Amino acid sequence: MSTLIAPSILSGDFAHLAKDIEMLNNSDADRIHVDIMDGVFVPNMSFGFPVLKAIKKYASKPLDVHLMIIQPERYISRFKEAGADTLIVHLEACTHLHNTLLAIKKAEMQAGVAINPHTAINNLEAIILEIDQLLIMSVNPGFGGQKLIEPTYRKIELARNLIERSGAKTIIGIDGGVDLTNAPKLIAVGADLLVSGSSIFKSENPIQTIAQLKAL
Ligand code: DX5
Ligand code: ZN
Repeated sequence: MSTLIAPSILSGDFAHLAKDIEMLNNSDADRIHVDIMDGVFVPNMSFGFPVLKAIKKYASKPLDVHLMIIQPERYISRFKEAGADTLIVHLEACTHLHNTLLAIKKAEMQAGVAINPHTAINNLEAIILEIDQLLIMSVNPGFGGQKLIEPTYRKIELARNLIERSGAKTIIGIDGGVDLTNAPKLIAVGADLLVSGSSIFKSENPIQTIAQLKAL
């Protein structure tokens, strides 16, 4: 399977979102990554339901909605209505993660779990079979444009090992500081999906950058 590419719309032009989504529709992107921040779980805010709905209206690709919010279980049905195809919650934000993942699937979305840099892969032993997408944060979440941290590579290897041992069908996504220079190594150690914001939207030719990432 070729690597899945999920451009992060957080780095798009919020005054002209339709234009950026149109560009992504016409690109090799597999999904669109949408970052929701509440100013509590992370020290930044992005946007909420009205903007997500507007993105859904234009997008021809599935939406991976990355919730950087506390108590995400309160909003599962609202995110489904607003257009999420995969709903990604943070392990650190869920008291009853197992319940939350079952509720996401019951709402007919794919269930994703994101883990912060300080969270070890062995915390996933008992839950991996319920996870459709494991999103390993390669920066501290909250902002685009940061540098990928080195321990990420080892975590990908450990996650790959856990998935193989357990027979889970989980895909491994990497989020934060991904670019054309580090992507080959991320793929080599076991990443299935790459999220990328600034390296795509700040490049001269985003369509071409997406194609280059896809071709790796
Ligand atoms: C960071 C977000 C990321 C961000 C990635 O908190 O979760 O999805 O948009 O942006 P880059 O690729 O610029 O690090
Ligand atoms: Zn994200």
